[in-house]
Amino acid sequence: MMADFWYQCIECSRKFDPSRRLYTCPDCGGLLEIEFDLSAIAEELGKHPLKGPPSVWKYGVFLPVRDRSKIVTLREGGTPLYRCQRLAERLGVRELYVKYEGANPTGSFKDRGMTVGVTRALEYGVSTVACASTGNTSASLAAYASKAGLRCLVLLPKGKVALGKLVQAMIYGAEIIAIEGNFDQALQLVERLCRERGDIYLLNSVNPFRPQGQKTIGFEIADELGWEVPDRVVVPMGNCANIWAIYKGFYELREVGLTGRIPRMTGIQAEGAKPIVEAIKKGLERFVPVPNPETIATAIRIGNPVNGPKAIRAIRRSGGTAESVTDEEIIEAQKLLARVEGIGVEPASAATVAGLKKLLERGEVGRDERVVCVATGNVLKDPDEVVRISEGAKEVPADYEKLLQVI
Ligand code: F0G
Repeated sequence: MMADFWYQCIECSRKFDPSRRLYTCPDCGGLLEIEFDLSAIAEELGKHPLKGPPSVWKYGVFLPVRDRSKIVTLREGGTPLYRCQRLAERLGVRELYVKYEGANPTGSFKDRGMTVGVTRALEYGVSTVACASTGNTSASLAAYASKAGLRCLVLLPKGKVALGKLVQAMIYGAEIIAIEGNFDQALQLVERLCRERGDIYLLNSVNPFRPQGQKTIGFEIADELGWEVPDRVVVPMGNCANIWAIYKGFYELREVGLTGRIPRMTGIQAEGAKPIVEAIKKGLERFVPVPNPETIATAIRIGNPVNGPKAIRAIRRSGGTAESVTDEEIIEAQKLLARVEGIGVEPASAATVAGLKKLLERGEVGRDERVVCVATGNVLKDPDEVVRISEGAKEVPADYEKLLQVI
């Protein structure tokens, strides 16, 4: 069964036919969301309850695809939800989990969005897909475009994309364009290109189909916890679609009656790129862009997040909060997570643990909470950063006595 769905503007609430290729509201320019007939989904779930282990397409009843034969999948989702007892003790929180998105096919949560977005590209019949990216989006889009047989253009901020992500875009055969500017500028260029050129489909997260796939992070967390929703979900924020997507997932679960509530969505940004944290802390309606964002966490080195209005809604509507962390705090958390739990993540993902630590210390997160941190990307994405922050190897001659001296 396919539930009916449509575009809906988050600002003016007008609805639009999803057979139109839209990125933002044609009337007011607001961000679009995909909305469903949730009572039809609830009815369907009554007849055919969800079965089997978590994976993106297990929740296909909640996904906006009309022609299932066109689904482009690399078996994304179904990532581990690790119970982190040792880390919980270190941080001083009752129950802590890490949702490890680094286990996706291209090593980040972006694959969940791309399976839906690239399937949509096939449904629209386009020949070329494109994105701007801090790295992971381009790696993921390049892989799914290959699988679908589509041409792929990626615009990257020159010199600011981590090596692991760049090599992925290269090997999957994307056409890579290095922009002499930052991510925000690259995104403006590719958005214009896709609006003016009907044959190129934009697959940045302003495309409302992408967050639809990403909302399955919320579905999987709830599913694995036996439809018991955690108190809080902590997410790194860059272009700000993911925190919204996860919120939306929990919202839909509650609306269809599978769960009883929505966790407090808690967004973390880097100190040098924190427009949403500022807006939340100051109680602003709209955020003020940061002109020259800077952080070691290049994935979230974004000063003008296109989906900022969605992130602000997700945080406020769920009673959550936002916090920023320094590069030093990110590095410390990255090492801690790897060395206490054996979970290797890239810096943007470690920001969640750093943020949680700070919020616990300040008493803004309760020590009796059940918390999930979303670790968005694999440690291998940014090997240069790891080499910079790690102790080097001890070099010794091939001699047993010398070996004993250094251990
Ligand atoms: N974590 C990682 C590892 C990311 O790559 C990103 C975004 C985020 C968190 C933030 O997610 O943008 O939905 O708030 N990376 C994008 C990219 C911008 O181009 O790969 P968001």
